[in-house]
Amino acid sequence: MVQISDCHLFASTDGRLLGLNTEDSLQLVLDCVAREHSHIDVILATGDLSQDGTQVAYQRFSRHLERLRAPSYWLQGNHDLTDPIVNVLGGRSHLSPCLIEQGPWRIIMLNSSVEHEVPGSFQPSELEFLRSALEQTRGCHTMVCLHHHPLPMDCAWLDTQVVSNAADFWAVMDDFDHVRALIWGHVHQESDRMRRGVRLMSVPSTCVQFKPNSHDFAIDDMSPGYRWFDLYPDGRIDTVVSRVEGVKFEVDFSVKGY
Ligand SMILES: [Fe+2]
Repeated sequence: MVQISDCHLFASTDGRLLGLNTEDSLQLVLDCVAREHSHIDVILATGDLSQDGTQVAYQRFSRHLERLRAPSYWLQGNHDLTDPIVNVLGGRSHLSPCLIEQGPWRIIMLNSSVEHEVPGSFQPSELEFLRSALEQTRGCHTMVCLHHHPLPMDCAWLDTQVVSNAADFWAVMDDFDHVRALIWGHVHQESDRMRRGVRLMSVPSTCVQFKPNSHDFAIDDMSPGYRWFDLYPDGRIDTVVSRVEGVKFEVDFSVKGY
């Protein structure tokens, strides 16, 4: 499985986020995915797929993914809009909230975004979906995916955007013992830790990276990347973050916010 996140595509292919052309960097990341994996079962796109919420940006995103010849499932980030995504996907079956069956594993995609707002928050219906999906998947190794971080990242500026009702989310999660992993995007940086037996992971953006452990907004000089997962029948997970190598990206490090 491959996780792609925070592509921030614009209606125009000239669009730049903090100086970096997001179309070009996505293409380089997908080149990397295609080179490293001859077969992919599932692509998880974990939000901020477009920067401007335009249908044309989602159309291009969808077309970019076609080269990987695997079904993709999308969830919304704070920059995304649901209606144009539904138009491009031709329905809601591959958009959060949804449940994916993949061999002995189950993947639950959730929407943590409120349109036109930066911080995350779950609607009550989303948490109900999570509870019922977890009840349904008892006995299967399960992964949960969302856009926002559900706990602090040790970046004060980003930690104002933690899912506002994270306590309600964890209350549902903690009622079950078959969740093996929880993954998210939004933070544009890699992380990997454990909480009560669940592996928690974030992923780099396919464009600009944010500096870990920074109090104020800060851009990192790490390259764009993605995460891949091998999920085993016994619940074991192999995962690696892979980044574009040998390319100098034009990023405006003087910018103090985005
Ligand atoms: Fe983002």
